Formats: sequence, C-alpha cells, structure tokens
Amino acid sequence: MGKGSGSNASTISFTINGKEYHVDANTANINSETMLVDFIRDHANLKGTKVMCREGGCGACVVTVRTKDAAIGADVTKGINSCITPVYSCQGWDISTVEDLGNKDDGYDVIQNRLVNFHGTQCGYCTPGMIMSMNSLRESKKDGLVTVKEVEDNFDGNICRCTGYRPILDAFKSLAVDAPEDLKRKCDDIEDCASCPCPMRQGLGRKCDKAKTKENSTLVLANGSVWTTAVDLKAVFQAIQRSNSDGKKLRFVAGNTATGVYKHEGPYSSYIEINGIPELKQKKVDSSEVLLGGGVTLADAIEFLGDISKTKSGFEYMAHISTHLERVANAPVRNNATIAGNLMIKHAHREFPSDVFVLLETAGAKLTIASSVTEMKVLTMTDFLKADMRDKLILSVHFPQRSTNYHFRSFKITRRYQNAHAYVNAGFLVKVEDGKIVEQPRIVYGGINPEFVHATATEEFLSKNTDIGSMQVLQNAFQILDKEVNPDFHPPEASPEYRKSLTQSLLYKTILGIMSGKASQHIKSGGSDIPRSISKGTQVFEADKSDSRLYKAMPKYEGAWQASGEAEYTTDIPKRPDELFGVFILSTIGSGTLKSIDATEALAMPGVVRLITAKDVKGKNNYQEYFFFPIVKPQPVFVNVGDEISYHGQSIALLLAENRQIAVEASRKVKVAYEGATKPVVDMMEALKNVEAAGLLPKHFIGTFSSEGDPSVKVNHTLAGDMNIGSQYHFYMETLNCLCIPREDGIDMHIPTQWMDHTQNNLSKVLGIPCSSINIDVKRIGGGFGGKITQPAHIAAAAAVAATTVRHPVRIALDIETNMKMLGRRLPFYMKYEVGFNDVGKIGSLKTEIFCDAGFSGNESNSLFAVIHLQNAYKALGWEVKPGFVMTNTASNTSVRAPGSVKGVALIENIMEHIAFYLKKDSLDVRKLNFIEKGDHFLPTFFGGGNFEEDNQIPRLIEEIKKSGDYENRKQFVETFNKENRWKKRGLSLIPIRYHVGFEFGCNLPAMIAIYHFDGTVSCTHAGIEMGQGLQTKVLQTIAQCFQIPMDKIKLKSTNNFIGANAFPSGGSVASELCCFAAMRACETIKDRLKPILEKLENPSWEKLIAAAYQAKIDLTASYTPGPKDDLKGYQVWALGLAEVEIDVLTGEYKVVRTDLIEDAGKSLSPGVDLGQIEGGYIFGQGFWTTERIVHCKETGELLTNRTWDYKPPETKDIPEDFRISLLKDAPNPYGILRSKATGEPILCATVAVYFALRNAITAARADKGNTEWFKLDSPITPEDVYHHCLTTPTDFKF
Ligand SMILES: Cc1cc2nc3c(=O)[nH]c(=O)nc-3n(C[C@H](O)[C@H](O)[C@H](O)COP(=O)(O)OP(=O)(O)OC[C@H]3O[C@@H](n4cnc5c(N)ncnc54)[C@H](O)[C@@H]3O)c2cc1C
Ligand code: FES
Ligand code: FES
Repeated sequence: MGKGSGSNASTISFTINGKEYHVDANTANINSETMLVDFIRDHANLKGTKVMCREGGCGACVVTVRTKDAAIGADVTKGINSCITPVYSCQGWDISTVEDLGNKDDGYDVIQNRLVNFHGTQCGYCTPGMIMSMNSLRESKKDGLVTVKEVEDNFDGNICRCTGYRPILDAFKSLAVDAPEDLKRKCDDIEDCASCPCPMRQGLGRKCDKAKTKENSTLVLANGSVWTTAVDLKAVFQAIQRSNSDGKKLRFVAGNTATGVYKHEGPYSSYIEINGIPELKQKKVDSSEVLLGGGVTLADAIEFLGDISKTKSGFEYMAHISTHLERVANAPVRNNATIAGNLMIKHAHREFPSDVFVLLETAGAKLTIASSVTEMKVLTMTDFLKADMRDKLILSVHFPQRSTNYHFRSFKITRRYQNAHAYVNAGFLVKVEDGKIVEQPRIVYGGINPEFVHATATEEFLSKNTDIGSMQVLQNAFQILDKEVNPDFHPPEASPEYRKSLTQSLLYKTILGIMSGKASQHIKSGGSDIPRSISKGTQVFEADKSDSRLYKAMPKYEGAWQASGEAEYTTDIPKRPDELFGVFILSTIGSGTLKSIDATEALAMPGVVRLITAKDVKGKNNYQEYFFFPIVKPQPVFVNVGDEISYHGQSIALLLAENRQIAVEASRKVKVAYEGATKPVVDMMEALKNVEAAGLLPKHFIGTFSSEGDPSVKVNHTLAGDMNIGSQYHFYMETLNCLCIPREDGIDMHIPTQWMDHTQNNLSKVLGIPCSSINIDVKRIGGGFGGKITQPAHIAAAAAVAATTVRHPVRIALDIETNMKMLGRRLPFYMKYEVGFNDVGKIGSLKTEIFCDAGFSGNESNSLFAVIHLQNAYKALGWEVKPGFVMTNTASNTSVRAPGSVKGVALIENIMEHIAFYLKKDSLDVRKLNFIEKGDHFLPTFFGGGNFEEDNQIPRLIEEIKKSGDYENRKQFVETFNKENRWKKRGLSLIPIRYHVGFEFGCNLPAMIAIYHFDGTVSCTHAGIEMGQGLQTKVLQTIAQCFQIPMDKIKLKSTNNFIGANAFPSGGSVASELCCFAAMRACETIKDRLKPILEKLENPSWEKLIAAAYQAKIDLTASYTPGPKDDLKGYQVWALGLAEVEIDVLTGEYKVVRTDLIEDAGKSLSPGVDLGQIEGGYIFGQGFWTTERIVHCKETGELLTNRTWDYKPPETKDIPEDFRISLLKDAPNPYGILRSKATGEPILCATVAVYFALRNAITAARADKGNTEWFKLDSPITPEDVYHHCLTTPTDFKF
C-alpha cells in the first residue's frame, strides 16, 4: 500500500519542527503503545524533549502541536504531554519541540533568553517542558499576546524541583502585555547585559503551519493490532463492527490521557481514534440548553462555558463549572482530555473521583449516547453509569438553562491546590426563593465510595424542611448526611472520617454562601474559599560595582543549552546499535524468603535477551560495601533465591531486551514465588516498640552527647513532648539511569551520580575487578538532592553485571514507580524531649532521644546530623542528647537535602514554642533569652565541641526582618484577623537558623585547568557534580577572575573519575566552594609559571602571553586538590525565615500568604545562583512540611505513594503569594573560600517556619473551641491534619 492518508494508507504522516515524518505501519518497534515522546527522542533523535513520569503529571515532555479543529476546520495550537500521546494519533499534526525555537548557532528565542536571564533554570531537566508550555501558550493567542494571569494559570502541569518556580513565572510574566514594571525593568537590564550567553534570534518561533485535516484510515500494525482513524460516525461504527467480528479488544482514543491515570490497562488489539469527528467537537447554545460534543476538550469547555456564563442569561452558573474545570488535571492534559473520556473513566472505575461527573450531575446535565449512526438515546448521568456502554459513543452533553434562583456551588478538596485529584469533590444546586428551598436540591459527592453519588436522604429532608436559615433544619440535615455518607478506606486516599466530615463542611459552606446576609461577620468567612492572587516576589542583594567577574548575578553557564535542549544528560546519549535495555523485577512482598524466579514466558517473547540474577554477580552481591560509616547490613544488587526479602520493591532481577517497550512488557510475565511471607513492619513507631519489647533499645543508640549546665539557671518548670516527622522523596526530574559499555580495559559507566568514588568502589567489589578498570563519566545531572549519592551504585551495579555477562552495552532508565519503590528516601524521625527552664523561659536542662528510620539496612542512619544541628542558634546548657535508629521493612533510606539537620532544628524550635506556649509568652522572646553568645560552648559530638567564637548574627537579622517584613504590624494583623474570623485563621512564624558548614568529612574535590596555546582558550574539569546548584557558573566566574579573561574563553568539561579520582561527594552545599577553591589554586599555579614570560613582554594580550609561554615550553596545565594543608575552616551560615499562612478551618485547606527570607551568603560569588538555591531550597522544604506524604500499605509493605498521581511536591500555586528574599548585606565570610558561604541547605531548615505558622493558625482555631492545651502535631501537615487538629464538628456550624 502506498504512503499518505485515506482508507488504504499504510503510513501516517506528521511534521516535527517542519520536517515531514512518515511512520509505516509495518515498522517493528513502533506500535499502538509507542508514544510521541519515544518517537521524538528515539526515532527523530531530538533529545531536547525529556521524559519522566509517563503519566501526564510532570510536564517534562510538553511539546507544541498545531492541529485542525474537526468542527470548524480552524487551526488550533496547544501544548500537550507527548508521553501519553500515541504516535499513531498524530496523523496530520504539525509538532514543535524545543529544538524548533533556537540554538547556539542561530540564536535563541525570546522565551529561552528570558528564562536564562531570570535565572529560571537550575538542573535544567524541567526546562524544555517549561519553554514549550510557554511557547504553546504564546502561539495559542492572537498575535502571541498573553497576560500575567494567563501565565500564572498555565504551569500547573510543569513540575520544577529546583527553582521554587518564582524565577520561571517572572521570566514568562515579563513577556506579558500587562507585565509589572519591576519585571520590565529587569528586561531592560538584560538587554544591556553584554555578557549574556544567550544571543537572541530574530523573529518568534516557527510560524509555518503544516497541520492537515485528518482522513479516515485503517492501519494494521506490525504487532497485529489495528489502528483506525475515524473522521465521521459511519467510520467509527464500521470499525467497531470489524473489531467485533475479528474478536478484537477495542478502545476509543480521544486524548488518551486516561492512560496517565489508569496506567496499566491494555494493551488493546483495536484502537479507534475519534478526534477528527465534527459531531464530537461541536459547541452550541440556544435558549434552552448548552450543547457540548463529547470530544470537546476540557480546555475548550472552560473557555466556552466561561464565555456563555457572561453572555447568556440562564447560564450564569456555567461560570462555576468553568472555574472548577480549571482545577481538573493540568493545562497540557486539559488541552487534549475530553469530557467523554473523563466520564468513561468514571463509568469503568466507579471509585474515580471524576470532577466532570460531579459537575454534570449537579447541573442536571444529560448525555446523548450513540449506538450507531442513527440510533441515539438521551440518558441522565446516573442512568449513564448504569448503561452498557460497550461499542457506544458519548456524542454530546446537554446543560439545561437555570434561573438565577438556583445557587450552584462546587468544591474540590485536594492534597495540593493544582494538578491533584480530589479527596472529596462536591456539587450543590439549591433553588431558593425568599429564604426557602423551593425544589429538591441536588447534593452530589465524589470520592466517598464507588456507589455513592447523591446524598438522597438529605436532599429529601431539605425539600420538606425548606427553611434554609433555620439552625434546627441545618443540624438535622447534618445528622441525616452523617448517616447516609459512608466513605470507604483506601490508603493513600484521605481517611473515611475526614471525607465524611468534609461532606458536612461543604454543605455548611454552601448554605453559608447562600445565606451570607444572615450570617454574622465572624461566621461569614466560612462561606468563601481561600482566595489566591497572582504571586509575586522580590530579591534583594548587594550589587557589586567593581570590575570583578565574581560577585555578579551571572546567567547560568549552561542555561541557554538547557533552555534549547542542547544540554545533554545521561539519558540523551544516543542508543548504540547493540545496546540492551534493562527493567528491574521487584519483590511484591515486604518480608519473607525468595523461593523462585521463572522467566520462561518472558524469555520466549521476541526481543527478550536474558534475565540477570544474583547468580550472575561475580564479586560481592552488595552495592554498599564501601561507605563512610561501617555497614550494618549488606544491600544486595539482586536478592538471591533462598535469601530474605527485606522490603516490598526490593530488586530481584533485571530483564534485558532489545528496547524499553519490550523489556517493560516482558517484565510483567516474570513469575516470582516466595515463602514464609510475614507482615512487614513499615511504621517506625512499631519498629521502636518491637525493639523496646525485645530489650534491644540500648543497641539502637549510637552515642550520648552531653554538655554542662549553668547553675545560675534555676530550673523550676519541666515539659515533655514528642514529634514525628515524615519521609520525603527526592523527586529529581531525571530518574536514575545509566549506560554501561563493556570496554577492552573494563567498563565505561555513564551515570548521574553525586559520588563517583562510591559508585566506582562498589562497582569494583560487585564485579570483582580493579577500580582502575572502571571509567565513570558524569556530564550533569537532572537534580540530585542527595538521592544520587549512594543510590546510583545500585543501578550501576545491576547494569554492569548485566553488561559484563552478556557483553553488550546495557542501559537502565527507571520509571517513576520503580524509582520510588526500589530506592530509599528521607529518613522519618521520632524525637522526644524533656526540657527544664526557669520562670522566664531560659533552658537549663534538656534530655532528648532522636530516632530515625533507616529502612531495612540501617546503613545511612543520620540522627547524628540532627544532633549537630539541634543546637541551632541557642546555648546548650545541661543537655543530654541520644541519637539512635531503627530498621523497618522499607527501602534503605538515604540523604535528602539538609539530611537530619532540618529535624534537629525542628525539634529545638518545637521546644521553644512549647515553652512559650506554657509561659504564655511571645515565642520570639523565649528564643532571644536562649540565643548563643560569643564564648558559649557547642554541644560536643563525635567531631568534638569547642567554643562559639563569633557574634551571633540573628539579633541583627531580626532587626532587619522586623523592618523589611513589617513584623510587628503583621503580628497585630494576624491577631485581629483571628479574632474576627471563626472559619479562616492565619498563623505567623519567625525561625532563626545557625547552620554549621564544615569540612569534617573531607574536602578533596580536585580541579584541572588546561590552556590551549593556539587561541588562549581555557578548559576546566573538576570533580564537582553540576546538578543545578550552579557550581559550573561559579567555577567559570572564578577562573575568569583569576586569569582576567572574558568568560566566553572558558569551557567546562564533564566530570570523570580520572581527574576526580577519590573525590568527595557533591553534597552538603560545599562542592561549589571547594571546586572554586581548587580551580583558583590551579590557576594560580599556571599564573606563577607565566610570570617570567609576562615580565619579558610589554602589556601583552592574553593570547600573546599564552603563545609566548608555549614557545618557552611552559606547562599550560595544572591541577589542584584541596586537603588538610589548606586548613579550610568551617563557619556558620545565618538565616531567618518568616512565614504567614491562612487555613480554612472547615476544610483544612491552606495557603502560604507570604514568606520573607534573609540569608547570609557571605559575599555571594554569584547572587543569581545563590538566590535560586535559597528559593528552591525553601519550596523543597515547604513541600516536606506540607504536601509530600509517603504512605506504605500496612499489610503488604508496598509503597502506595509511588507516582505523580499520589505524591505531590509543590507546584506553581503552592508557593507563597508574596515571596521576598534578601541576602545579608555587608557580610563577607572571613573563613570562607573567596569570602562566600554555602547556600543550598541552610534555608531548608528555615522552612520549619511554615510548620509553626500552620500550628499557630490551628492553635487559634482550637482556642475558639475553648481548647488551649498544647497538642502534638506530626508532619507533613496535610489538609486532613489541619482539619482534624482544628477540632471542628458540625455542632459548631452556626449562622
Ligand atoms: C495527570 C492527570 C490528572 C488528572 N486529574 C484529574 C482530576 O483532578 N479530576 C478529574 O476528574 N480527572 C482528572 N484526570 C482525568 C482526565 O480528565 C481524563 O484523563 C480525561 O478527561 C480523559 O479524556 P481523554 O479524551 O483523554 O480520554 P481517553 O484517554 O482517550 O479515553 C478514556 C476512555 O474513554 C473512552 N472514550 C473516549 N471518548 C469517548 C467517547 N466519545 N465515547 C465513548 N467512549 C469514549 C475510551 O475508550 C477510553 O476507555 C486527570 C488525568 C491526568 C492524566
Ligand atoms: S513525562 Fe510526560 S508529563 Fe511527565
Ligand atoms: S531546574 Fe526545574 S527541575 Fe531542575
């Protein structure tokens, strides 16, 4: 069959970046399961587009597409997730990837230029997706004009784990027609910036539109499945008939976004793509109804219904539906996701908390269902749920007209403001005349149980007891509701109790909204949602006016390459012809013994090569043989048959196949048997109890650290308390991956590791080969946050065992679920204390035990770090601190940004709050009484104690923040706000930080400089790992300063374990400083050698000097490794965090209203980079205290929060509405390298301000209930926790 389109076609065609691609149905490795992102990356070889979650949840894969609207033939431009878009659905599309916008040769697009110059990239892994989301928004608008609000609303589908979003939003808002003045001013500065590494390309994007109208076609694909593109109803029903007669399993493809939710359904044998059918895309309104085709996307529905609500009387309620839909999924998903697709998920999975279903059922909408071209049936929404939908299409949705006496209200209560499915969603339609309900109301809830739709008994009650303003009616209604709502229990969803309470709160909120005239001022706040305005931020730092290359806010060295997709990550290394892909087989029990592994069925599949198991390990089966501390328990690369399974998700084997898709499919066919399975222990409190009961507690302490007391502090009060702090997943956007290539002298290992030495040494043990046979190369990594310090050794070992066994290159790239299940996270902590203090709150004694949950191995317990940071900015008088650990049946936990330290700070700050609460004092006053002073001693730890030899900077910072943060006025405002509002509360918290930066563990990060004699250009390589922290930029500035040469003369090369032999890990925020120091010393060595040449020449140019030196046979290379000889001194970083939050007492939802941060960065080497580290670190920490919750199944031990659907790091609308950051002025570091200080981790400790601000808001709500007791507050604090601790009950619901 010839190529082209039409019913006889054997190919589909589309364009990518203007180039036409024809995909032949016979192509063996492209089938119905092949997604556009795989085609772009593996077939078109465009590696700029990244892939992470493969479920529409992160935005790494966003591309711009231009298509034809099937109803009106007009061009449509939109951003979509290429990871859930089947390549065969792209027929006729015109697609742009990030490479289409600009590059180093042709110049960069203004979007790319702005993002780089606003410091909007760090690791850069999210960056192409961000750029393409912005490009899609711009292109979708007439003349490319966007508003600030449109930008703010457009990024709910793009996660950035590094930046904290503010610089990204600012960069894109600066392009808006209504851009604020401060952003416009920044742009003027950028245009003046001669050193911008990002020259602008003329013109915006590629305007040429090659989208084509789809045509009917049927392709038989190489794997036997059939792909039909239907552009009319007749073709659909013919295809259905064909499928049925061939016995094929059928699926319609609209947006295909449902595969992002229910990922593991299918494969199907017949696909019918229905996006080209005009009837499904129609949007109409007449006097009695609004009609939307079933194939109308959520994005189109939002726009259309929003417009209708403003222009058509009787459809005002559409505004609520439109606003609610804006919170369904995320922008790129909504651009493709259809109404019918959403409803069909609900049809197939009754437990799915579909917002679309709730909205339509509340509005009383109906559906037209087509079972052939002529047979149509109109069904109510509830009848639709009962209907047999096999072989039927949802043709259209019909919304009735409603007079303004109908009050429509809907809610979505979620774990994160955006891009999160509902705990509970609800819709209320109440017709009210003269304060009376005049028709049976519609009360609809989702997220209760699979069968629950209407609160029928409550509806009936209210239709008979119509006085909506009567307290008695209301209370009776709550009682009826309480009886008829019975939520099921499905972790990690919220608890049944909370979900039941929400149904009552939301009914109350609705009635309050209707009766707002009747409600008292104090109560009215319950009627509204928490409003959120457009976020803004300020960044204050001292501009360095000298001609130094240092101390300037330079754009990031690799920023432009990140923004254009030119920056290469390990996964982007092109596939080698003989390469194999490995997929891990994970245990599905949490505790027991591995009995057998049977891969017969998998190995029989074409393209499957071999199963690698523990038997293939030639050396030691332990990827953690080498570590800083003694090993408690080995961490096997693969569990051996007959050995213990330690946790659900542990690696058992690696299946090798010719490509990823085959390996994934085949891995599902590997059968694993276990014996002696027992209930795993996944909760550290249970583990602690078991250890205590067995009398083994003393063995679980790693020491006791004590300090002398001060007899002048008369302890006459004691308080005891405890805290549980949860875990956190790193959520680096680049999941762990590696490429291992067998070589003549051993292996090459390309891997994003923060610690090459650890990876190398453990590989040597596992393979049983010398360290010198292992060549490790790391160019850059897409976010690490501690998760790539020890964990890469695991996948490196698996890939290396496989590669050396089959003697082929082997690649592993973990999907998000494997990454989350198999590898460790932040250690959960339990801490208890007994504190003694005098009448004013000065601490005279403290006894505390600090336990961490180190996972199954116990190897990386870090309660000691908590001890080191426990003292924070305070005296340690009469302290006795005992750190310990427990082990659970969970993955071996590991470092995450500010490991341990954030817990130590949280504990001492909790103690300060507890004392202040008890004494009824301002907590800041209690803190001040206990501040450390010059000459005070440090709590001795393994590293010794010593005295504090400088001035405490916190009082100075407090004075600054009192002015800049308007502290006193805001404190007053919060008090008044809380008195005036029963159902909304605010909380404010100010947290001081003293963060010790030291070189106790080591400082050997070598650097090497080479100058090329021909043109005087310079190369540098060093052992530091660039993972977004701006290390390369700082090194670049340092070299340019040392040699007094322009930055564009210098290039930084990827890191390897030759120059970086024996290197210290890049972690703990010190790698940047150490690499700058090493580079500086290496430059100085060369400068010394150049001196005699310089003396002979008269004012030579750099190039002449270097040429002359070469002639004189001067060595133009040098390297340096920092070590004890350099006597590098540790120092303190000072910081303050001031956070203000608002909570909704009726639902537990919250927002961060404002955050002010001051950090002492010494003399910041690169303020743009340092501000980015501070903002990013802060939002990372905010997520830790709030939205990010890790949940295991208590029965099986399975990690239930193992994907973007369930695990929620902050997004753009979680950041503080007002986010102000300043670097401490005039504070050069006398001890630090080039007078600077580390920035990445200290500020994360200050994020505990959010925890205490929430605590203070909850305390205010409890006080209204008459409860003034201290309460234990575990973290993270989810909306459920806020609600629960506010002690709200329906009997409190009044007017
Ligand atoms: C990251 C993410 C977050 C999400 N968050 C939410 C959320 O918060 N709330 C919420 O309600 N939803 C949410 N969703 C679900 C989303 O709304 C649906 O995935 C989407 O609406 C499905 O539409 P689709 O066109 O992509 O359907 P597809 O995936 O193409 O199809 C889904 C099903 O519908 C069938 N189908 C499609 N069209 C028709 C038709 N016209 N007639 C009959 N059958 C049809 C298909 O056969 C298939 O079985 C989320 C999805 C993702 C990926
Ligand atoms: S990879 Fe596509 S959204 Fe995450
Ligand atoms: S820069 Fe956004 S994830 Fe790293």
